[in-house]
Parts: sequence; structure tokens; C-alpha cells
Amino acid sequence: MDVEKRCVKSIGCVSALGLGTSSLGSSETDMAILGNALAYGLWLIDTSEVYGRGQVEELIGRALKSFAKHERENAVVVTKFWPDEQSFDKVVKAAEASSRRLGTYIDIYMPHGPIETARLCEVVKAFEELIERGVIRHWGLSIARRELIESARQCAKKYDIAAVENIYNPYHRIDEYGLIPYAQKEGVLYIAASPLARGLIVENRRLAQLAARLGKTPAQIALRWAMDKGVVPIPRTNRPDRVIEYAGAYGWRLPEDAVKFLEE
Ligand SMILES: NC(=O)c1ccc[n+]([C@@H]2O[C@H](COP(=O)([O-])OP(=O)(O)OC[C@H]3O[C@@H](n4cnc5c(N)ncnc54)[C@H](OP(=O)(O)O)[C@@H]3O)[C@@H](O)[C@H]2O)c1
Repeated sequence: MDVEKRCVKSIGCVSALGLGTSSLGSSETDMAILGNALAYGLWLIDTSEVYGRGQVEELIGRALKSFAKHERENAVVVTKFWPDEQSFDKVVKAAEASSRRLGTYIDIYMPHGPIETARLCEVVKAFEELIERGVIRHWGLSIARRELIESARQCAKKYDIAAVENIYNPYHRIDEYGLIPYAQKEGVLYIAASPLARGLIVENRRLAQLAARLGKTPAQIALRWAMDKGVVPIPRTNRPDRVIEYAGAYGWRLPEDAVKFLEE
């Protein structure tokens, strides 16, 4: 399948659109959502050890075996540890447990929230150890400011940061003024969490009119907007058919007047 890619120095090329999994569990419907994501090219799958208390990582592991067994390398699995305790041992053990549940290596590993500056180098040391052991391929940070990212990079001895995952959507654009240009200049993948503002965006009536004029859906417009900014949005859903709708954000660009409308 010819899937639109986002290529960055840190990690190479990944699908330009991904899937968030915070609302999944372990049902057949959830499995079908992952099956559609893999079939329609939403290959960057974002998860966390806390989603369904590990159940979602297990489900992703099963989906990768059923739907992508010969194409594991197409998928990019991002998972996270809950940063309540920020010690070397905790991070290593948490990553090993996530990798066991996934039944495979982790492509990008990050904390599920900010890290205290005082613990940063210990956490980065754990990431580097995990890369050496083959448990993870890359490390990143989430809900992070530029200063934290710069400090974390100074801690790294051998492996630089690969990705940052922050909230980014037309209603929440703060990173456009600093972090996104920084990430792009440094070749770090920027993953846009909450790209539909938890569903708020699709309720906008004027956006619905604009979408209808362009022959698209509101979700496709919001996702395309983010993709055109060079970031990888990770929308979630509880419906397998919605994944196919999201995949309709591939293969076109948002006209200038639509960009203006979204940003006014
Ligand atoms: N790193 C972090 O700390 C962090 C923080 C926040 C989020 N995230 C990641 O970002 C992912 C997505 O963010 P999010 O959970 O805030 O959600 P989101 O992707 O911004 O919004 C998803 C919501 O939009 C709804 N939606 C889509 N199209 C719709 C339509 N046409 N009509 C009505 N509703 C529609 C979906 O409903 P349906 O279920 O009915 O489709 C779903 O409830 C999460 O799953 C997670 O992976 C990470």
C-alpha cells in the first residue's frame, strides 16, 4: 500500500497519520479498530501502560500478530510509562513489561507526562540502556516543553531524542510558536495528541459546512490541517468505520481559505 509518510532524521519515515488507543479495551470491536488502522495505513499506534491497565498493549500485540505478521516493521508502536516514580529501575522494568504485553519491541518509549528536571538524566539513562538491550528502538517525551527536551538531550550519551508527543489541534496551537519549528529543525518527530480536541472540533457547525463544500468530513479537515503542518496526528475512536473515515485525510492538501478558517 502506498501510504503517505512523514520522514524525520531521528527515526526515518513513519505513516503521516496514526491512531490513539486511549479509549480501547479488549473487545472484538477494539480489535477491528486496530485491524482497520493497519489495513488503511494508520501505522503509528499510540498507547500507554495505563490504557486498560495493560490490556490495550496486549490487544495491540495480538493485532500485530494477526494483521501485520510479515510487516511488523511498517507499524510504529509508541508506548509510555506512568511517571509516578522516575527511577532507572522503574523505567527499565516498566518498558520490559510493556514489551512483554506487546509481544514485540517498542518503537518509541516515553513517559506519560512531564519528568522532574532532577530525575531527567536517570530516566534518559534508562532509555539508553533499553535501546542497548533491544527492548526499545527510540525514546521520546510527552507533554513536554522545549526546555525539558533540551535538558533531556544534554543527558543523552549516545541516542538522541526521537519524538515528542503533545496536545495539538486547531483549538490548541501553542506549540506552533516554538516547539514544532524546533522539532522540525532538529529532525525530531512531533506527534499531535488530541487532534480532534476530544471530539469538540467535529461539533463545529461552520466546520461541517466547510467540510461539505470540500467533499470531506470535519474530522478529515482537522486531521489534514495537522498533517499539512508536518506533524503526525493520532485520533482515537470507538468505531471501526471511523478509522476508514480518518484514513480519508490521506492524499490531498487543505486549501488556503480552509486553513484560514480553522486558524481564525
Ligand atoms: N501523551 C498524552 O498524555 C496524551 C494526552 C491526550 C491524548 N493522547 C493521545 O491522543 C489520542 C487522541 O486524543 P483524544 O483522546 O483527546 O481524542 P481525539 O482524537 O482528539 O478525539 C476523538 C473523539 O472524536 C470523536 N469523533 C470523531 N469523529 C467524529 C464525528 N464525526 N462525530 C462525532 N464524534 C467524532 C470520536 O468519537 P467516536 O469514538 O464516536 O469515533 C472520539 O470521541 C489518545 O487516544 C491518546 O493516544 C495522549
